Amino acid sequence: MRVEIPLYTERFGSVMIHDVQRILELDSGKREAAEENITTIHKIERDEIEKVEDRLAIVIPVKEEKLKLLEGVLSGIPHDCVVIVVSNSQRSPINRFKMEVDTLARFYRFTRRKMLVIHQKDPALALAFHETGYLDILDGEEKLVRDGKAEAMIIGIMLAKTVSKDFVGFIDADNYIPGAVNEYVKNFAAGFCMAESPYVMVRNSWKYKPKVYDRGLYFKKWGRISETTNKYLNLIISNHTGFETEIIKTGNAGEHAMSIQLADILKYSSGFSAEPFELLYILEEFGGLKPTSHPEVIERGVEIFQIETRNPHFHEDKGEKHLKEMLLMSLSVIYHSPLCDQNLKSTILNELSSQNILDKNLQPPKPPTMSSPKSINIQTFTKRLEEAKTFTVFG
Ligand code: GDD
Repeated sequence: MRVEIPLYTERFGSVMIHDVQRILELDSGKREAAEENITTIHKIERDEIEKVEDRLAIVIPVKEEKLKLLEGVLSGIPHDCVVIVVSNSQRSPINRFKMEVDTLARFYRFTRRKMLVIHQKDPALALAFHETGYLDILDGEEKLVRDGKAEAMIIGIMLAKTVSKDFVGFIDADNYIPGAVNEYVKNFAAGFCMAESPYVMVRNSWKYKPKVYDRGLYFKKWGRISETTNKYLNLIISNHTGFETEIIKTGNAGEHAMSIQLADILKYSSGFSAEPFELLYILEEFGGLKPTSHPEVIERGVEIFQIETRNPHFHEDKGEKHLKEMLLMSLSVIYHSPLCDQNLKSTILNELSSQNILDKNLQPPKPPTMSSPKSINIQTFTKRLEEAKTFTVFG
């Protein structure tokens, strides 16, 4: 792969946020080009990318998605990555989860690739979290894992640890284009190859998110949610540094990846607020504004890569109400961040009321947060899951 070097990097304490990097070639081949020493371009060799894929788990959170889409996503993930499907699909009256497991079983018959699948609401999974003292993920009433994509991500991180992977990436199950999924994984791997710190995150930035109109396709660059979330995340940084910035372009990046070393020490916010919260938490914890409990991270720094995909992103359109909920959750975590001052809080309230998302006299709800997965004893957790046969393993 041939990718631009980050032409600008914003520093916030020990956090390095690299500007969006464009891809020149998805596959840069084996042959040396006449002029290889272009200092603004990284050439990442295929075997370097493949080595990372072997150490990478891809988590697919799924809730009532079309099976054809799930199967397409599976087909796009490079064979050497472990696939971890975390499902919250219904089990009755129609057992959609069983259909997902059957899809994986059929896929395994012909590909023999390693995959794990688990149901988010499995009582034994909740028990394993309970016994290891990780109560933040449980729904108080039902004594099961709460609904939510971030909750699925944490389950995925834990399973990636049980199979001893070094990196974990997240790819939604409702992606229409398997070739794009394949690119997302290559981009994650490229980011890990470029990283100098072991605490690294790679976030995909969409070149286009096309919309279908009567007259054909329109290649939209920004979604309404990401544009607004990015604006407020950037304002948080600008308010603290005194310099305006537009560095954050991936505030809501659902498709992103982390080194396990970073994923293990982050806190997470419930549901769809996870992606902006990860950035906020990194800024809060490693931005040098308060003493940290992780001096080793301050020493090495946290690196955030934003890589622009070549493939356009086509996914299921879940409607206006869903988008409004997602924006509310994104702006809520910014509003409740200790980095958000009173002025910015008022601006966020105005934004939410002008978009008819929240009455201007109300405070945005604070989504539940979940402590770092590192606090969970991995041996006990794995043992409990294995004893209860909680997850199905293929390969
Ligand atoms: N296991 C599990 N549990 N999966 C879930 C849950 C849940 O409670 N809720 C949603 N999912 C799955 C969906 O099936 C899909 O594969 C993925 O999580 C994303 O959910 P969508 O409902 O499709 O979200 P979206 O497409 O509107 O938003 C996506 O893109 C945003 C950026 O544009 C998500 O990835 C967001 O997190 C992201 O911010």
